Amino acid sequence: MLESLEGFIKPGSEEESLVNQLDFNRLPRHVAVIMDGNGRWAKKRNRPRVEGHRAGSKSVREIVETCGRIGIQYLSLYAFSKENWKRPKKEIATLWRLLEDYLKKEDKVLVKNNFRLKVIGQKTSIPQSVIEELERVEALTKNNDRLTILLALNYGGRSEIVDAVKRIMEDPDLKSDSLDEAKFSQYLYTADIPDPDLLIRTSGELRVSNFLLWQIAYSEIWITEELWPDFRKKHLLHALVEFQKRERRFGDIRPNVEHT
Ligand code: FPP
Repeated sequence: MLESLEGFIKPGSEEESLVNQLDFNRLPRHVAVIMDGNGRWAKKRNRPRVEGHRAGSKSVREIVETCGRIGIQYLSLYAFSKENWKRPKKEIATLWRLLEDYLKKEDKVLVKNNFRLKVIGQKTSIPQSVIEELERVEALTKNNDRLTILLALNYGGRSEIVDAVKRIMEDPDLKSDSLDEAKFSQYLYTADIPDPDLLIRTSGELRVSNFLLWQIAYSEIWITEELWPDFRKKHLLHALVEFQKRERRFGDIRPNVEHT
């Protein structure tokens, strides 16, 4: 058992048996998560949707901690899509408030654990008080290098690609002959961050919902019926164990070759 997992994983539990199945030398470097099902979780309990989001923020805390302890280097969380603006005003306001509370309470945890927070998406239209908190925590954690949490806010995969094209067109030093996939990636919000190896989606929907469209070209996809507020460390461990059973070929015929 890794030292960082001692006391976190109960001896004799299902979690322990999953940890024992993991090969810590073949962990995904980057895990991306589409956190879905908060509304359904609340509906099942006859509670307002916002209760689902509140419960979902507890899952965020547990999954961030688990990734850090396991040794995942990058965790992307789809917290607010560009399409989410279509929701009722009250629900939108609650989502931003939950995020602001999360940042105010968790900043010390992020610093203590050497975690970095980085926002991806368009900061425009995000409430000013939330932007200030985000920028404060980004600055506070910018030199941390244990786990990078990429928080996708007002994020859309297609907009990210359009934004990249705009930046390319505005770059006087870039010649079209030198543009290739690696170079293009450098104009995305995720420049210098490896592509996700594993994409997890909760609540059983079989869609990618405009998340990291460019970056997930070769990601392994794991979809679970579990609703996001019910998603706990054992579900993450299960996804990691299943990930390690996959043969990643990147178009090659040989298994588990490196992606170039
Ligand atoms: C999807 O559930 C979830 C979201 C749109 C937002 C995710 C937000 C949180 C987990 C809470 C706060 C975030 C942080 C980072 C602290 P849904 O509402 O689409 O569920 P449904 O499909 O069942 O309606």
